[in-house]
Amino acid sequence: MFVKSASFVISNTDIEKCPNNNLPEYAFIGRSNVGKSSLINSISKRKGLAKTSSKPGKTQLINHYLINNKWYLVDLPGYGYANTSKTKKQIFQSFIKTYFIKRKQLINAFLLIDIRHDPQRIDINFMRWLVKNQIPISIIFTKSDKLKTHAMNKKINSYKQIMIREVWESLPPIFVTSSLKNRGGDDILNYIENLNSELG
Ligand code: GTP
Ligand code: MG
Repeated sequence: MFVKSASFVISNTDIEKCPNNNLPEYAFIGRSNVGKSSLINSISKRKGLAKTSSKPGKTQLINHYLINNKWYLVDLPGYGYANTSKTKKQIFQSFIKTYFIKRKQLINAFLLIDIRHDPQRIDINFMRWLVKNQIPISIIFTKSDKLKTHAMNKKINSYKQIMIREVWESLPPIFVTSSLKNRGGDDILNYIENLNSELG
């Protein structure tokens, strides 16, 4: 799929105020700093579309980006940011969880994982929560430029093992990306295009 147009539409914490024109949408979720906003820029080939930061906790709202006037990419705040206050964590939990549970237009959640890290309990728990709520998921490993192939495959395999053991009987689609090197974005675009075409 070629991205002819990409534009920011709206930010908010209230799902009632998200766009209501019933276009399909695809959300990016994962730990703070995993590279959600960067990947939205890489996929859309628009460098400054989503705001990124080297410090965790940059994205604080639900952000809708309209692609080709046909579907949305949705950038979400990250979870697991150690310095977030308890109240902020609770607010996050309530509006993000409401988004996932209530948003009928959500076709697929992409759960991002930093490829450098060993499996993290918080990611496994969030996967389990999405599965329990029947939200279709795909996994995206980010920052693949940071590891050599062998080390990368080792991390992916250890994730696969724990996902099979604790979350799924058969694995969901898995993508490996680098926003820095613009790797893997086209596979995600093709995947989205296929899902869109199945919607008719
Ligand atoms: P929050 O909005 O805080 O939840 O973070 P986020 O998941 O949106 O992360 P963001 O895209 O802001 O990126 C966090 C940091 O990781 C930034 O310093 C990015 O430059 C860096 N980063 C993101 N993707 C990549 C990548 O593929 N490779 C490398 N080397 N760095 C990356
Ligand atoms: Mg962000």
